[in-house]
Amino acid sequence: MRKILVASVMALCAVVALADNQPVITVRDLDKVIGRLTIEQKARLLVGSAAFDSGISHEVAGAAGWTYEVPSLGIPSINLADGPVGVRINPVPSQRVTTVYDKNGIPVTTADAASVAADSRRTFCTCFPSTTALAATWNVDMARRYGVAMGDEARAYGVDVILAPGINIMRNPLCGRNFEYYSEDPLLTGKLAAAYIDGIQSVGIGTSLKHFVANNQQTGKKYNDARMSQRTLREIYLRAFEIAVKEAKPWTVMGSYNRIAGEFTQTNKELMIELLRGEWGFDGLVLTDWTVRRPTHDLLNARSALIMPGAEDIVDEIVAAVKCGKVSMSVLDACVRDVLGVVAKSVTAQGWQPSAPDVEHNVALSREAAGESMVLLRNDGTLPLAEGCKVALFGATAYKSIAGGTGSSNVNKPYVVDISVGLRNAGFALDDDLWRVYDKYSAFASDLLDKYPECPDWQKISYHRTALPEMDLSHGMHLVEKAAASADVAVVVIGRSSGETSDRRLDDDFNLTADEHAMIDAVCGAFHKAGKKVVVVMNVCGMMEVASWASKPDALLMAWFPGQECGNAVADVLGGRVNPSGRLPMTFPVAYADIPSSRNYPFVGQTEGRNFDYTDYEEGIWVGYRYFNTARCRVAFPFGYGLSYTSFGYSDMEVSRKGSRTTVSVTITNTGSRGGKEVAQLYVSAPAATMEKPRAELRGFAKTRLLRPGESERVSIEIDDYALASFDGANSRLIAEKGEYKAFFGASVEKIVAEKTFVLKKERTWRVKNILAPVAPVNELKINQDLIK
Ligand code: BGC
Repeated sequence: MRKILVASVMALCAVVALADNQPVITVRDLDKVIGRLTIEQKARLLVGSAAFDSGISHEVAGAAGWTYEVPSLGIPSINLADGPVGVRINPVPSQRVTTVYDKNGIPVTTADAASVAADSRRTFCTCFPSTTALAATWNVDMARRYGVAMGDEARAYGVDVILAPGINIMRNPLCGRNFEYYSEDPLLTGKLAAAYIDGIQSVGIGTSLKHFVANNQQTGKKYNDARMSQRTLREIYLRAFEIAVKEAKPWTVMGSYNRIAGEFTQTNKELMIELLRGEWGFDGLVLTDWTVRRPTHDLLNARSALIMPGAEDIVDEIVAAVKCGKVSMSVLDACVRDVLGVVAKSVTAQGWQPSAPDVEHNVALSREAAGESMVLLRNDGTLPLAEGCKVALFGATAYKSIAGGTGSSNVNKPYVVDISVGLRNAGFALDDDLWRVYDKYSAFASDLLDKYPECPDWQKISYHRTALPEMDLSHGMHLVEKAAASADVAVVVIGRSSGETSDRRLDDDFNLTADEHAMIDAVCGAFHKAGKKVVVVMNVCGMMEVASWASKPDALLMAWFPGQECGNAVADVLGGRVNPSGRLPMTFPVAYADIPSSRNYPFVGQTEGRNFDYTDYEEGIWVGYRYFNTARCRVAFPFGYGLSYTSFGYSDMEVSRKGSRTTVSVTITNTGSRGGKEVAQLYVSAPAATMEKPRAELRGFAKTRLLRPGESERVSIEIDDYALASFDGANSRLIAEKGEYKAFFGASVEKIVAEKTFVLKKERTWRVKNILAPVAPVNELKINQDLIK
């Protein structure tokens, strides 16, 4: 229905015209228009407009970049705005900026100040839960709805392309941008990203799949060479991109800053041409990640066609490169075609008019997604809390909660519902003394730590809102004891921020701070002594050390960065309005040092050398559960883990083969006494005759609808043989070996709940090019010899 609607809007707009009545280009006109462009005009189309806060052509303040317009040929300017968890634009009126070219073809932009005065719109956008949280829902339908809602807001506000999703694999928990990424598993990442892209693009807005590829650390990211075997690259780091490109056809792909196989990704022809376009059939636009420059002719020769955010001298460089033959005219035209293909499909080209998004719907969806993403890690019967009970709420983040990360994925949202407010909204009685003390502390600490005291409120609530350090509760033991005497239960909130500019630190970030440990100890001590329970809620970016303290509280809830409805969503789960159905999209190790990549990861503040200039991915394919589960290394919580307030039974598992497909079905029944959703996680153990393989790999998943007690759903998951294949580097081919495969459904990767075998009678292979080898061989971990005990 939505597609039909969009198609008819597009049809109505088929004769959209620019200001001087020149009809706007359509996808059918591209060749004709390219034939009429001068070299200078072509060059300009490949270079973004450098302005950050004033766009050209139509008004979107705070978009990350724009393309140039050529009004005489019906080419409008389009804009591109971040980011993964909502649209990042400024909630202020923007000036209408128009461009006129002087006689030398140099653009002169004129800003119309009156347009600001005339515009009373405030373009706040909905902040959704982080994409890690989205991954924890394991729900492709949710990912699609999340995408549609973001697309609708972009469309209402006039954003043409959303610079998302970011789908790099969580190689190491200290990567500062992991909260923008999905998972340690490529299938979970790829499938959810494909649904998300499909959602956004279904409403006529473009996406940018980023950061292609292996952007797995912030420290040194601009030059780092990610060195890994071809197998590791193909099976782990490229796989999610491959799924998303093939299944969802994003309009654009963003090349990452780092190098792969010794060459910058953006100038890497093997990556951008042979693999992305040749093998995967991508026919959209590749654009560069922002601000870092690479040799212009190398970019174009690798079909990295749109250079962002751009600078005037790059236009000259392109013209010179074409004139001296470093870039052929056919390459130039191909690049221009890539850009114009997106321009012609854009909402701007369809005659965009401002409108108001359905904020109420999107906010409700954000809350629903957040509730569905939360992972119940421990519960001894404490949760859900009794209706209206008296809660002693501890932790600075409970009173100043964290909706999302900082950096380009920031969303300018109108508000954040603190956890304290959410609990009160849900009818819980909060301890007044604690509220008063924490409120004062939070105001004081926020002021003290405010690095941008002059900035407007909308920036304070979004760009500069970070988790406050915990106060030293040892001075407030009388408060803790008083609360233990009067409240029914304690809820302790742990908070973390994370952002684009830095990786995380091990101490006081991945590991708890001393004050946080002391707070948990003090509250658990006092409440347990009084015969009362303690719940810990983690309002954090992602994985943390939990093994040393998780058994102290009686319940533990991972709430991630839940978006602007944070407090309401947490209260939904604590109070039982929502039965938690999130599952971990990554493994929680016992200690950081247990993670194989910890041996090859930079430290914050490092400025050169190994792990900065280059990183050896010595752990190879043994990322996340592929390592822990195969090596039988004890973890705090395994991949796929998560509890519910109800229980589920699995029955009648069947496996059938037809052609190149295996279908695995099972019946899931709610065997408990509350309604709930279950995640069917399908793992496969493949025969390992020719190479080492993980003990099990996620090969499919599905989420049930909300099942009432006693209700069942039959779930069927199809696996193509290609998805069973491993990469045989010696012969440059993917191979699904013949032999017996074990398929099992798991409550996590470690807990089998139903299993069957199936047989591939003949091996199947897919030959690919021998490309993207590391500059030097990487000494990869051999798990069977080195680690299985
Ligand atoms: C980030 C991208 C982002 C771009 C535009 C870069 O710094 O790496 O993810 O889309 O800025 O804001």
